[in-house]
Amino acid sequence: MGLSVIILAAGKGSRMRSDLPKVLHQLAGKPLVSHVIDKAKKLSPEQIVIVYGHGGDTVKEVLNDDALIWAEQKEQLGTGHAIAQAMPHVNLSNQVLTLYGDVPLIEEETLKQLIDCGSGKCLGLLTVTLDNPTGYGRIIRENGDVQAIVEQKDASESQLSIKEVNTGILCLEGELLQDYLKKIDNNNAQGEYYLTDVIGLHTNSGQSVITVNPSSELEVEGINDRVQLASVERRFQAQQATHWMHQGVTLVDPQRIEFRGDIHIGQDSFVDINVIFEGHCTIGKKCHIESGVILRNVRLGDNCHIKAHSILEECECESSVKVGPFARIRPQTYLSSKTQIGNFVEIKKTRMGEGSKASHLTYLGDAEIGRDVNIGAGTITCNYDGANKHKTTIKDNVFVGSDTQLVAPVTLGEGVTVGAGTTVTQNVNDGELVISRTRQKTIPGYKRPVKNQKM
Ligand code: UD1
Ligand code: CA
Repeated sequence: MGLSVIILAAGKGSRMRSDLPKVLHQLAGKPLVSHVIDKAKKLSPEQIVIVYGHGGDTVKEVLNDDALIWAEQKEQLGTGHAIAQAMPHVNLSNQVLTLYGDVPLIEEETLKQLIDCGSGKCLGLLTVTLDNPTGYGRIIRENGDVQAIVEQKDASESQLSIKEVNTGILCLEGELLQDYLKKIDNNNAQGEYYLTDVIGLHTNSGQSVITVNPSSELEVEGINDRVQLASVERRFQAQQATHWMHQGVTLVDPQRIEFRGDIHIGQDSFVDINVIFEGHCTIGKKCHIESGVILRNVRLGDNCHIKAHSILEECECESSVKVGPFARIRPQTYLSSKTQIGNFVEIKKTRMGEGSKASHLTYLGDAEIGRDVNIGAGTITCNYDGANKHKTTIKDNVFVGSDTQLVAPVTLGEGVTVGAGTTVTQNVNDGELVISRTRQKTIPGYKRPVKNQKM
């Protein structure tokens, strides 16, 4: 049977006190609702319908995803009403899974279990037992079987003591859901159409409910304000840190590291404090990442050493590459194995061959650099003429002396030596020495000026 996922994201989120719709606030560098969408996609559903309301256009624009179906809920009349807005888009012969745009950390495994339960005439319901169930809908059971859900505001004194609560996430057949939604009303304490009334209707018609529990409370925690957002963020970060430590990665302080994306770190890598991983990062084995490093969409081979306060973005390093401290590696840079980039070096859209070095104070942009090249301190590729970018080609075994300007487009042939202080404006052939420095003059017996006497 096919699967349709409905994600509720119409809530105003007024407790965020924000111009930004709540579901676009970020957790681990990604909008809350994107976490939910990504989890939903892992289930390979036939359709994903997002119910939007407040700030819907912003949500649509930011997500910019053609795979999503959008259903507007003009007025927020309750969770049952919200789901009903999605139903005209839903293939009723599918199973329907309901998710929430502000419950970001739900796990694929849990959802799979739920889908297994919510088939045929059976309804799968995700519940959790909380020490403090205040605010949640309570699960009413009789002889162990789920009978109904009662909302906090509608609950009796004895029902309020129940600790098993509704997460709001459930799965059942589309036809059944459609049938129940037609029957629910808003005769309750909040005057809302409750999705939770579906449970009572289902059990009253003699059908069963099977409950599934998440592996942790964090999975089903909803975010209503920035305090909860920060709290969920910290726990999510801690969870990821724990995971990587179990995989054989040393984290000097698991509380001072950030994982914002799909990160993979190889065994026996060592990560010092205040390192931020963003986007898709693959870190090899036995890498050493020093304090204050930011890695954004980076691939590092094995044994790389990224020294303190370096920023690497959209670049690839083969094995045993050394970068930093204080280096900036920008997009489309490729560093072959054993290259060494030192302090205050900026590299953009440049390929460096094996064993090449740029150790100090250098800008390399739009360059193709061969093997075993030495780029001296203060070398600059002048790649921009004010209108266009041009390429610099440096062949194998070139030695570039300090304080050199390479005015692109320009090519240095194999084994070229560039004298310090040279401005290279024309191509240099293999094996040549190029030097554009004016000859040194020395004046013996030179006397420095002396200060005039005060008048
Ligand atoms: C709901 C459940 C409750 C459950 C709790 C879990 C109902 C009636 N109650 O309560 O049993 O324990 O979630 O967190 O379902 N939304 C819309 N449109 C609406 C109303 C809500 O899109 O008209 C969205 C909200 O943006 C939110 C979600 O649905 O993402 C839940 O709504 P909320 O008002 O927070 O439900 P609760 O009262 O907390
Ligand atoms: Ca409510």
